[in-house]
Amino acid sequence: MSNAAILKIGEKEISLPIIEGTADEKAVNIGALRKETGFISYDDGFGNTGSCQSDITFIDGDKGILRYRGIPIEQLAEQSSFLETAYLIIYGDLPTAAQYQDFSNRIRNNAMIDERMHLIFEGYPSDAHPMAMLSAMMNSLGCYDPHLATNNRAQDLANFDEAAAFAISKVRTVAAASYRMSRGLPINYPKRQLRYAENFLHMMFSYPYDDYEPIPEVVNALNLMLLLHADHEQNCSTSTVRMVGSGGANLFASISSGITALWGPLHGGANMAVIEMLEEIHADGDDGSRFIEDAKSGKSGKRLMGFGHRVYKNFDPRAKIIGAACDDLLNKLGISDPCLDIARKLEQEALADEYFVERKLYPNVDFYSGIMMRAIGIPVNMFTVMFAIGRMPGWLANWKEVASNPKTRISRPRQIYQGHVLRDYVPVEERG
Ligand code: ACO
Repeated sequence: MSNAAILKIGEKEISLPIIEGTADEKAVNIGALRKETGFISYDDGFGNTGSCQSDITFIDGDKGILRYRGIPIEQLAEQSSFLETAYLIIYGDLPTAAQYQDFSNRIRNNAMIDERMHLIFEGYPSDAHPMAMLSAMMNSLGCYDPHLATNNRAQDLANFDEAAAFAISKVRTVAAASYRMSRGLPINYPKRQLRYAENFLHMMFSYPYDDYEPIPEVVNALNLMLLLHADHEQNCSTSTVRMVGSGGANLFASISSGITALWGPLHGGANMAVIEMLEEIHADGDDGSRFIEDAKSGKSGKRLMGFGHRVYKNFDPRAKIIGAACDDLLNKLGISDPCLDIARKLEQEALADEYFVERKLYPNVDFYSGIMMRAIGIPVNMFTVMFAIGRMPGWLANWKEVASNPKTRISRPRQIYQGHVLRDYVPVEERG
């Protein structure tokens, strides 16, 4: 295959270089298009636009493949832990025993947040959404350790290891604190002797006088859930982190914007929307069939939440893993959740329905993650927060990739203007 694409616009013919990825993905580099022809490319929602070249995560949506740094998600889910996978995503290779020790010690030793941040929590109303608090607090972390958030790329990169450990560790503490405040409960301090997931569960659920007793099945399920969310190439929130980072913003500012982007119901907020949908179906006495008909007709803007994906057009490998793990957890805990039965029925019906088959709509990771989180005891308004804790390694790795590439240009798309071309200003008295 030639390493150039020929584009003809009117009489003008130009040659555009082809970029090939290590897994045979191909792109036409249209960087010279405007200069050569006066045209720009247009791609609504960036569905067909590569915004970067990255070494971190590979997805083949047609084949249902997801690999972090080349390692299949199935192998990591089976054999690795969230923290080990976080190291892999951030640093590029699985850690040696010594590297892992060092990494996990840094995370263990940085779980506390500055005491003055508790005062900020107290200022929020008790029904403040934990995603709003999480985003604001993660950005605020930089205020308490300004040497980690200088907006000077060289300095921020030099302190990256410390900042990354802060982010991974403290995001748990902030998340748990926002939950405790919303319940009017005292904030629990992290405990150094506890491992990552257990420490989070302790901060969430230990009451002042009795400690949360970790249930191994719950700890494992939480670890798996975080691992499955750890990165997902150029999704809405990760692209946001990269875009903000491309302007030179520090790590904490960049991940805070990623959290905000994640909040939307079409992205990370879908896990909340799925449970709300399943509960609504249950309360309506529907077995899911009526809802499917509504979703197909687009009635009242309904969609089958947890179904469909911009990239996966065959199956979402994370959904397969989490669906099985969800069944397993509920069995082990002896929980019978009517929402799981409805979810299974919806999945069965939708997978056999022409509307969903034609549009290649399959369950995504959010379809079952909510049921799993509910079994763990996580309240619905914390679901997207859990996603954010899981996605932290991916955001960190992507920020680092942007910041450490000397060729990074500021992300600045163009547009096709469709507004008034030129109008005169009219003084208010004449406007009526
Ligand atoms: N239920 C019913 N119909 C759907 C659904 C759905 N969940 N998803 C897509 N469709 C239909 C659309 O109406 C459209 O139909 P049309 O061609 O007749 O107009 C067609 O499928 C294509 O849909 P788009 O919205 O163009 O697909 P896009 O790639 O832009 O959106 C998205 C992907 C946002 C994930 C979408 O499938 C969706 O809204 N799903 C539900 C929300 C969800 O689960 N989000 C989580 C995604 S995974 C994640 O972020 C972790």
